[in-house]
Amino acid sequence: IDPHLDLFAEIARLKKEKNAILLAHYYQEPDIQDVADYIGDSLGLAQQASKTDADIIVFAGVHFMAETAKILNPGKKVLLPDLKAGCSLADSAPAPLFKAFKDKHPDHIVISYINCTADIKALSDIICTSSNAEKIIESVPKDQPIIFAPDKNLGAYLNKKSGRNMLLWNGACMVHEIFSLEKITKLKIRHPKAKLISHPECEEPILRVSDYIGSTTQLLKYTEVSDATEFIVATETGILHQMQQNSPHKTFIPAPPTNSCACNDCPHMKLNTLEKLYLCMEYEVPEITMDENLRLAAKKPMDRMMEISR
Ligand code: 13P
Ligand code: SF4
Repeated sequence: IDPHLDLFAEIARLKKEKNAILLAHYYQEPDIQDVADYIGDSLGLAQQASKTDADIIVFAGVHFMAETAKILNPGKKVLLPDLKAGCSLADSAPAPLFKAFKDKHPDHIVISYINCTADIKALSDIICTSSNAEKIIESVPKDQPIIFAPDKNLGAYLNKKSGRNMLLWNGACMVHEIFSLEKITKLKIRHPKAKLISHPECEEPILRVSDYIGSTTQLLKYTEVSDATEFIVATETGILHQMQQNSPHKTFIPAPPTNSCACNDCPHMKLNTLEKLYLCMEYEVPEITMDENLRLAAKKPMDRMMEISR
């Protein structure tokens, strides 16, 4: 790429010329968030993807998110700047192993968190995201046994909230498991007025001491309406960009990880760059494609989710 190229202007031009919509998750780098048409959590992004009349959906997020957009809107070309942008949580549930697990519990229905592959979606009865999971679970009769996959931390949190005893798949997100309770406790002593806000993919000891738990959109809204002016944020750092923009006078501190050499960035989300975004829009690759039978099977539980969370 010509280093003098104004990537912001070029991306804006390509969006117009190609009738493309750019959807970005909150964990994307700030530059990408700034050029996006819509920034949101997994549910918001899926809803936008299903209703757009653009010809091309450019998905600045990870593979399962772009795949979800394709499942919901097969007539559109769906582009992902880097096909290698995966997800440790989605990877923690390989479809053949999960199928064997499911077959052992034929009386259970399967609720899967949207952070999973199309193959896992196709093996599920209903999909949920972190913002609608409680509502989705409530929609299932109390005496119906449930398998929840793939996130054991979100599953345990939901079991506690709903009083259910869902059978949990043993998966987790690499980003949300790095936070140190000890360091957070020390940080809270130094910042006694700060609110600890956490994503439900975090482990139980972190959630137990949190002042607020929610999806990325819910965390963002909480920081806007809360009277507090300091927040310790236990989720991926990308969200801090919108938090800081929407509440410039407030202070946001990333929750400290156990290993001080680590950071709270998702290595998959951060594979997308402005340069890759520009190239993918210019040449319309890499594109998400999917077998039609798989797509239809994966769409069924997505449709149930969309129906319940309307
Ligand atoms: P939400 O934005 O839906 O809360 O999901 C968080 C996440 O980990 C996405 O990868
Ligand atoms: Fe997956 Fe975690 Fe990255 Fe989200 S933050 S894409 S759940 S690895």
